[in-house]
Amino acid sequence: MARRTKIYEGKAKILYEGPEPGTIVQYFKDDATAFNAEKKDVIEGKGVLNNRLSEFFMTGLNNIGVPTHFIRRLNMREQLVRACEIVPLEIIVRNYAAGSISKRLGLEEGTQLPRPIVEYCYKDDALGDPLVTEEHIAAFGWASQQDMDDILSLALRVNDFLSGVMLAVGIRLVDFKIEVGRVYDGDLMRLIVADEISPDSCRLWDIETGQKLDKDVFRRDLGNLTDAYSEVARRLGVMPKTVTKPTLIN
Ligand code: TMP
Ligand code: ASP
Repeated sequence: MARRTKIYEGKAKILYEGPEPGTIVQYFKDDATAFNAEKKDVIEGKGVLNNRLSEFFMTGLNNIGVPTHFIRRLNMREQLVRACEIVPLEIIVRNYAAGSISKRLGLEEGTQLPRPIVEYCYKDDALGDPLVTEEHIAAFGWASQQDMDDILSLALRVNDFLSGVMLAVGIRLVDFKIEVGRVYDGDLMRLIVADEISPDSCRLWDIETGQKLDKDVFRRDLGNLTDAYSEVARRLGVMPKTVTKPTLIN
């Protein structure tokens, strides 16, 4: 079989050309990075868990009419997704203070915010993904006003969906990050949720104990990362119940 064409390799995923035009194969690596890749490790099984968890969240979103790039999972580490033009923004939604907003505004971690707060960062690793305002986004043409209205509405719908799904299994959705992409259907351009939704891109705290079940376990050296992600998967019924550690195929 001919080797597939690699389109892009990021910190946690590789994108290959898909089997049909307009599709991409998204491969989840075991690599974990934090603080703009200053901290790096390989965490065996993380890619398998994130592939499954992202499938679970994206499928749920598709089912409630929030459009995403997800088409189907192919195997343990790969999923078929729709090709799109990524808007160069990281869209962060926060329900409780943690991480950079706590530092920036002097808020104690865990403080409930008066309402969900949406923030935008410009996707540029060399600059460390700086926080930007809608003024920057409009002035530099990264997204139009109509795009920003659509992005806000997508972000809040994802927040409501994810918050509810997590609450049902005793997990607080503290914050998360999404990326969106443009797809063209004839003359019509639409924005869809792209990239991944996984414990790499969310903060998830156990409601009872406050235990962290997300990438902060790695960022802050709080224990075993795959144990935390497996717990999220187990509660959501995502991984087969008898399998405690993901089997590594591919
Ligand atoms: P922050 O508190 O570091 O700004 O992160 C907010 C949320 O966004 C948190 O759930 C982690 C996620 N995030 C990413 O997924 N990728 C990133 O590059 C950054 C900075 C944050
Ligand atoms: N800055 C991101 C994070 O900490 C990822 C990275 O830096 O590699 O989540």
